[in-house]
Amino acid sequence: MKFSLFKRFAAPPETRELAPAAPRSDFNKFELRAPSAKTLIDIFAGKWASDLSGFCPGLEPGGIGLFSDPRVTQAVHLLGANGRFDGANVLELGPLEAGHTYQLELLGAMVTAIEANREAFLKCLIVKELLGLKNSRFLMGDFIAFLEESSQKFDLIYASGVLYHMSDPIRLIELIAAHTDRCFMWTHYYDPAHYVGAQRTPRTIDRAGARFTFYEADYGNTCHDQFWGGNKPVASWLSREDMETAFRAYGFNKFTWILDDPGHINGACATFTAEKY
Ligand SMILES: C[S@@+](CC[C@H](N)C(=O)[O-])C[C@H]1O[C@@H](n2cnc3c(N)ncnc32)[C@H](O)[C@@H]1O
Repeated sequence: MKFSLFKRFAAPPETRELAPAAPRSDFNKFELRAPSAKTLIDIFAGKWASDLSGFCPGLEPGGIGLFSDPRVTQAVHLLGANGRFDGANVLELGPLEAGHTYQLELLGAMVTAIEANREAFLKCLIVKELLGLKNSRFLMGDFIAFLEESSQKFDLIYASGVLYHMSDPIRLIELIAAHTDRCFMWTHYYDPAHYVGAQRTPRTIDRAGARFTFYEADYGNTCHDQFWGGNKPVASWLSREDMETAFRAYGFNKFTWILDDPGHINGACATFTAEKY
């Protein structure tokens, strides 16, 4: 008897034309190359803000130098001991891709870093694995909620690029004051003479015995890959003077301006430390 495999298992011609061929492998899901730094980085290919070329042979340089950022050096210069953070218990707010975390760890710090952007958090874990970070822990969540719930104290709160993303920046300063005596901050601030962004609406609020103005703006679309801002729809900027007033009102009586750049391309920004002593 003649036996035809083809005839027994082939679908009828009309079905064959309608049904799409089932994919044999999902190339977004599986990696086919041998493990390397590049296979890790490529999980978020085209979505990194940082320049990672120094850690990955063959990777084109590009992006921001967040892994060799002078801001961490400025922080250790003013708040470290002998140019180091050895053994310091540091809380980092909004690590993004762990560039500053990496530098803080190299300087001897024990870092807890809190990140609310899920993709950014996963990038931090990739960096942790890639660079073998041993003394840094990444927590997934909102740092405001963390600071409200936790009673932990830190030797230093490192807050770069986050104050101007808050809907209530005074609340963040109040919470920082409840958890540390020393804070490092880089942030944009509101200066009408140099402001370049979306229209901001002033709103006056009274807190801690002082009067502050929030310059509020809506983010609009936050769903694109390059959005690395806050997790609320509105961000409020403070003036330079209001920032200092707020830190002083919550007990930071030593305030040191490190850098003031009113002409920055994205709007005025400043670096400073605030200490209680
Ligand atoms: C502009 S980036 C700054 C990144 C980095 N620290 C730097 O200075 O280059 C702001 C980061 O803070 C995170 N972030 C903003 N608001 C947050 C919140 N309430 N809780 C946790 N992370 C937050 C964002 O997801 C983002 O990764």
